[in-house]
Amino acid sequence: MKGIVLAGGLGTRMYPLTKITNKHLLPVYNRPMIYYPLQTLVSAGIEDILLVTGGNNAGDFLRLLGNGNEFGLKHINYTYQEGEGGIAAALSLAEFFAEKDKICVILGDNIIEKTIRKAVEAFERQKEGAKIMIKEVPDPQRFGVPVLEGDKIVKIEEKPKVPKSKYAVTGIYMYDNTVFDIVKTLKPSGRGELEITDVNNAYIERGQLTWEILDGWWTDAGTFDSLLRASQLVAETGANKLG
Ligand code: G1P
Repeated sequence: MKGIVLAGGLGTRMYPLTKITNKHLLPVYNRPMIYYPLQTLVSAGIEDILLVTGGNNAGDFLRLLGNGNEFGLKHINYTYQEGEGGIAAALSLAEFFAEKDKICVILGDNIIEKTIRKAVEAFERQKEGAKIMIKEVPDPQRFGVPVLEGDKIVKIEEKPKVPKSKYAVTGIYMYDNTVFDIVKTLKPSGRGELEITDVNNAYIERGQLTWEILDGWWTDAGTFDSLLRASQLVAETGANKLG
């Protein structure tokens, strides 16, 4: 399986911090934010990785990460997203890289305590479709929220005012190669973006979406509050631990 880290966007929710740098280069405790999603992929056994970035500071990723020696990698692939188009638009830039392989996508501001190795291995065995990781949170209205009937996710609602479950869809997604055809059918949402939630709903309609509850803590780091929380969690317990 190949890995894709999405680290573009203008990070306008975090002005003025992101006026002079990319959100994913901001510090989370003792390392730049981008280190954590990269390590999440590497510790799941994924070593063929594409980093999608954009904006004014894209060159800084190369200076910081180089060929990924610090992560035990021999090479990192990079690509550049012009402007802002949403997560699914950023993902479409990975089509040439994925070729016919399955992919594991992680948002550059998602930080987890443990490893996703078992879920990645389970998806290797899954014949087709997609797998998402969900996690119970106190504020589901900030995220994509799964609507559950029994143990089936029948729909995902993006940032609903009245969430129908206590779970968030985390920014860790596994897809077969048809994801790029799905992205081509998407229309921009109310916020003018191609939404990853629409991609996942397309897999639900096909009856091909599996899901797992993520082990250990999970947080995004894309708002002032969640960035602070991420630093506290990493300082207290560390991130990306095996087992
Ligand atoms: C995005 C997705 C959302 C998901 C979240 C996870 O939200 O749209 O479904 O729950 O990432 O971090 P955004 O960060 O674009 O608001």
